[in-house]
Amino acid sequence: MALQSLLKWPFPERDRSRYDAETSLRRHRVRRGLELFEEDGQKVERGKVIWHVTMSLDGFITGPDDAMEWAFRYAERSQIADEVLNTTGAILAGRRWHDVAMARYDGRSGIYGGAWTGPVFVLTQRPPDAPPDPGITFLSDGIQNAVATARAAAEGKNLGIFGANTAQQCLETHLLDELVVHVAPLLLLGDGVRLYGGGPGVHRVELQRTALAESGQVTDLRFRVVK
Ligand SMILES: NC(=O)c1ccc[n+]([C@@H]2O[C@H](COP(=O)([O-])OP(=O)(O)OC[C@H]3O[C@@H](n4cnc5c(N)ncnc54)[C@H](OP(=O)(O)O)[C@@H]3O)[C@@H](O)[C@H]2O)c1
Repeated sequence: MALQSLLKWPFPERDRSRYDAETSLRRHRVRRGLELFEEDGQKVERGKVIWHVTMSLDGFITGPDDAMEWAFRYAERSQIADEVLNTTGAILAGRRWHDVAMARYDGRSGIYGGAWTGPVFVLTQRPPDAPPDPGITFLSDGIQNAVATARAAAEGKNLGIFGANTAQQCLETHLLDELVVHVAPLLLLGDGVRLYGGGPGVHRVELQRTALAESGQVTDLRFRVVK
């Protein structure tokens, strides 16, 4: 067969340049972890809102007195955790995360053991007069505005959510797209901050598992929130 006919565009009914443009857009989305979302009847491309958390087998994200040392015990690399880290453009957390992280875990510099840098937003009713870190912005105007502000700062990458309270508000307002949980197996903490539940706004949430993996003793789970 002549080389010319091998190189010929094989689908006469499809426009070659449009196909190339769509393929290149799809590749760009996959590279950056972006997805197409339906908003106001329009398809828009944006990063996802992802709650990333480590949980004990009995459902706590901290031990008593906000203890987190148990979670740092597992040093094995996790492909799912790396994916989340590499596609996160900004983080939104609550004031309790902030105060504990500043007091015990090196604040913003300690996030993901120092492997991540970026803007962090903290929901609080008590914004400090002099923010201790210029990379941390305190927000007090509600979860929806906070997510919009932090997502804009993520510049098309995903927005990471830290802590149970903030995540619960995202679920309540249908803003959460995914949940990534690392289940630490060796522990039954018995007490601490629960993954979910308690307080107003709690409702049944349907999840669809999209990934399951193991890294050492840890089970990595990824879910899509069914909306
Ligand atoms: N296991 C993990 O992977 C993981 C990950 C992240 C964090 N953590 C831990 O989880 C704990 C924190 O989580 P948490 O759920 O207890 O609390 P949180 O979400 O960090 O903080 C809750 C606080 O944030 C402020 N806040 C929340 N929503 C607000 C809103 N809409 N407007 C204004 N202020 C608002 C309020 O504080 P004020 O009223 O005082 O302003 C509220 O009491 C920490 O111990 C942290 O170390 C664990």
